[in-house]
This record gives sequence, structure tokens and C-alpha cells, in this order.
Amino acid sequence: MIPTASDRCIIRLHGIERIYRVGVERICALDGVDLEVRENEYVAIMGPSGSGKSTLMNVLGCLDRATAGRYELDGVDTTRMGDASLARVRNERIGFVFQSFELLGQMSAIKNVEMPLIYSRDGWWSRHRRAKAVLERVGLAGRVKHRPNQLSGGEKQRVAIARALVCEPSILLADEPTGNLDTRTSESILGLFDQLHREGQTIIIVTHEESVAGHTRRIIRMRDGKIHSDMPAEQDPVQRTAFPNGVEGAPK
Ligand SMILES: Nc1ncnc2c1ncn2[C@@H]1O[C@H](COP(=O)(O)OP(=O)(O)OP(=O)(O)O)[C@@H](O)[C@H]1O
Ligand SMILES: [Mg+2]
Repeated sequence: MIPTASDRCIIRLHGIERIYRVGVERICALDGVDLEVRENEYVAIMGPSGSGKSTLMNVLGCLDRATAGRYELDGVDTTRMGDASLARVRNERIGFVFQSFELLGQMSAIKNVEMPLIYSRDGWWSRHRRAKAVLERVGLAGRVKHRPNQLSGGEKQRVAIARALVCEPSILLADEPTGNLDTRTSESILGLFDQLHREGQTIIIVTHEESVAGHTRRIIRMRDGKIHSDMPAEQDPVQRTAFPNGVEGAPK
């Protein structure tokens, strides 16, 4: 059965602004963003280059702070938190996946996945067990000792996804997770995101590709730092034109 998003609000943004200052220039990358995301939603963020997608993901992931507005994550107001508290929230509640994987090249897959657990109270054996279990969950039981340069692109991204999941985050954020992968590998990574969604994970993916967005349930389109449209994927007019019968391989 396809899970439906619950009523529990994981993310609540109100009037979020992010202004960059470069010399005397002032760039308004986010211009009054209001957004709510509930538990187990599966969301795509789309929009032209420069529309603010990565800036929004960085604010959601507590990698960056808004210059105005309020951001509640799991009911906790992050806006007034100090840097140390924000770093803890980021470690415990956010899983981030990047286009370029960002794995540590000298470490095995399992050591990469164990990294975020260093801040937990677990001893080394428990960290090892948890990392191994999550590598199994992403289909990499046979690759735990491989270093990144001994893995394919798709396998590297699976390790990065395992690392993002190991602390059991409230939300998984992925910025162009298939941007460096060929079509077939992208499909298998999207299959993994679909599986995680079915298992109850809340997921937000930034993408330029309509076929990637077609896997999700809700599509947010940004323009000039604002949310231009926000609707269920099956009602999104661009999706309906591009894929009248739905995206091949995507959950119906
Ligand atoms: N560190 C920065 N300093 C100054 N301006 C920035 C910085 N980061 C982003 N910007 C500007 O903010 C705007 C939004 O950038 P952002 O990276 O969020 O766009 P994007 O939608 O992710 O684009 P892309 O699809 O190309 O990744 C752009 O005009 C960009 O030039
Ligand atoms: Mg970007």
C-alpha cells in the first residue's frame, strides 16, 4: 500500500529571506518563502538555475541561516539557536545527499557511514553495527570495505545515502542526487528513494529533471527566490504534459 503523508509537520518556514552581500551588491536568493512539509512527504524542488533551490536546501539543512524569517524543524525554532546547537540539530535530524557524493576518499564505505555517529553516545561496536545495517538497507552489503575509488558512481551515491540515513534523520535532503549519474544508474538511485519513502522517510529532492520529479508526490517550482507553484505531482501542468501516463518506473 502506498503510504500517505501524516499530519505531523516536520518543516515550517515562515517569511524566509536569504540575502547575500557581494561588495555593494545585494542578492536576494530567497525572498519570503513560506513552506510546510509533513512527515513522510516526498517532495521535488525545481526551477531555473539561480532561482534559489540550493540556498533553500542549505537553510533547510541548517548548513546556512536565513537572514530573516522563522524556521521550525520538528517543532523546534532553529532561528535563534547558537552555532553549537544548530550543528547538533543538523547532525541528529538532517540527512544531506549531494550531487558529488562528498565521501572521504581514504576511508572504507563503512567508515564513511560511521562518521556522523561519532557525535552519538554509541560505542564503536554499536556504531559499526548501525552503519552495517544501513549499508545493507541501501543494497551495499557486499561493499562495506571498499573505498570510494573502488566503487561505481551509483554505489558511491548509495554510500552517501547510507551516511545520510545512519542517524535516522527526520528529513532526507538531496541536492541533484542523480546529476552525476547516467540514466540507468539514476533510475536505480530513484528506486532507492522510492523504497525509503515507502518505509516512511520524509524526502526533499532538488532536481532539474522532470523525470526525477515524477517519482515524487509534490512538486514545488521556484522562480527568483520565491515559490512560484506548489502542488501534487499528478496535478502539476508540466508533468501532465511531459508524462500523461506517469513516469516510467515511478511509483503510481
Ligand atoms: N555564496 C553566495 N554568495 C553570493 N551569491 C550567492 C551565493 N550563493 C548563491 N548566490 C546567488 O543566489 C542565487 C540563488 O543561488 P542558488 O545556488 O540557490 O540557485 P539554484 O537554484 O540552486 O541554481 P542551480 O540550478 O544552478 O544550482 C543566485 O543568484 C546565486 O548567484
Ligand atoms: Mg543549486
